[in-house]
Amino acid sequence: MFRLVTTADELVKVAMIRAIVFMEEQGISCAEEMDGRDHSALHVLGMIDGEPVACGRIRFLAGEAKLQRLAVRRAWRGRGIGGKLLAFMLDQCREHGFHRFVLNAQTRALGFYARHGFCACGEEFMEAGIPHVLMRCVEEPPPEGAVPL
Ligand SMILES: CC(C)(COP(=O)(O)OP(=O)(O)OC[C@H]1O[C@@H](n2cnc3c(N)ncnc32)[C@H](O)[C@@H]1OP(=O)(O)O)[C@@H](O)C(=O)NCCC(=O)NCCS
Repeated sequence: MFRLVTTADELVKVAMIRAIVFMEEQGISCAEEMDGRDHSALHVLGMIDGEPVACGRIRFLAGEAKLQRLAVRRAWRGRGIGGKLLAFMLDQCREHGFHRFVLNAQTRALGFYARHGFCACGEEFMEAGIPHVLMRCVEEPPPEGAVPL
């Protein structure tokens, strides 16, 4: 269902989902949505029956991976796709050697991230006119020389 974006076609599909969810549904401006950081991010696309339904992006920062722009189109929500998307993104981070994850959660999605191991850090703040909370999840990296099962 999920894949890392490797083609222009897939990136267009990601942009479509983001335009629908963040710009149309949530009223975020194009300037805020396209923040100039897409070129240096990994993008994830979720497809169901040929339809682009979910996306997210990952940026590798100093010592931690930042998860951003997680979205599932409205008609596909509430059936576990968001949870699977998050799990796929965390696996990608681990494969790149990252075991510390950070994200700015929209406050209404706080419970969703908390159920997946994230803890809120600090006060609520506004971003793109929407209340957010910084959340982190820190794992123990596997011991040196460990072989994956
Ligand atoms: C947050 C989001 C990715 C979750 O996707 P999903 O496929 O509905 O996720 P799941 O089915 O795995 O889990 C659903 C849970 O997310 C919670 N949730 C958070 N925001 C939600 C929303 N706007 N609509 C539906 N469910 C939402 C629900 O309460 C639900 O909790 P429950 O399992 O206790 O009922 C999706 O709701 C979405 O795209 N929202 C709009 C964009 C957004 O706000 N992205 C997050 C930016 S931080």
